Amino acid sequence: MEQITIQKTETAREKPDQANLAFGKHFTDHMFIMDYTEGRGWHDPRIIPYGPLSFDPSTAVLHYGQATFEGLKAYKTREGNIQLFRPYANMHRMNISNDRICIPQIDEEFCVNALKELVLIDQDWIPEAEGTSLYLRPFVIATEAQLGVHPSRTYKFIIIMSPVGAYYPQGINPVSIYVEQNYVRTVKGGTGFAKTAGNYASSLKSQEEAEKKGFTQVLWLDGVEKKYIEEVGTMNVFFKIKGEIVTPALDGGSILAGITRDSTIQLLKHWGMPVNERKITIEELFTAEARGEMEEAFGTGTAAVISPIGELVYGGRKMIINDNKIGAVAQRLYDAITGIQNGSIADPFDWITRVK
Ligand code: COI
Repeated sequence: MEQITIQKTETAREKPDQANLAFGKHFTDHMFIMDYTEGRGWHDPRIIPYGPLSFDPSTAVLHYGQATFEGLKAYKTREGNIQLFRPYANMHRMNISNDRICIPQIDEEFCVNALKELVLIDQDWIPEAEGTSLYLRPFVIATEAQLGVHPSRTYKFIIIMSPVGAYYPQGINPVSIYVEQNYVRTVKGGTGFAKTAGNYASSLKSQEEAEKKGFTQVLWLDGVEKKYIEEVGTMNVFFKIKGEIVTPALDGGSILAGITRDSTIQLLKHWGMPVNERKITIEELFTAEARGEMEEAFGTGTAAVISPIGELVYGGRKMIINDNKIGAVAQRLYDAITGIQNGSIADPFDWITRVK
């Protein structure tokens, strides 16, 4: 692959107040772009000033949603080092997503280097306040200008970056979850395991209705029997029932293989608390609750990190979990994951990639 060319901005953007970052509202000075052309492959990798892109109105992604994305974070350590959390896992997952919707494969190693170069250029944008980080959003869009329904012959791979705080306004405090019974997110054989734009578009209606009822997120059930729990809007889910930690197994292909999910499973195993990955019915959760065996629930995700679930509502039934307080396992995971990410504790798993 060619060298990345760099064009620096002449008008630096104003940096936001680190105390009020929220999620995905501010963007750094630069972005990375490369193009794909059938017969030529990926070409013209470049870092340029952040700014609008212009497209023909017939551009494929605008009509048929052929788009994939990733989310990962960069951190500045107390010593002033800069590091990324599991970037190779993200680039690998992007190729799994790309394959599902006929987007050509990216060179994973090259794209991790592109992430590093871009972070280095905008390193002053990495926030340092507690609970903040620089969120990196690589994405691929189909750019061919034509309306036939077939895979595009041209694409753009782009990385933008956003200084962020907690994804939920609650921070690490427990969130309330509405179990969705009408809409489904995906089915076996669909695109549920891939990080494609369409999965998120199809989640919006349910999310909007849940928010109107005062919930933070929805919990999706399987699309066929509406019986098995799958994942929450922006997170995978874990439960601690009578001492056993369980999470839905990935084998149906309808659940996103979260990188924080995988990190959680590895950490818990390392601590001698293995996770049972299996099918879990929504009824089982309410039975456990009725027996006083539901000890903890939490979600995992790059944006959400570890997010305790304090309340779950399904039909007319409601359960309050762990008195709506942060559980011990969730707190320990949050401390370990954020500690490894920001360099304040050792990384025995080789998850960190140093930028500087
Ligand atoms: C992430 O956690 O990075 C996500 O992609 C979830 C959401 C913000 C889309």
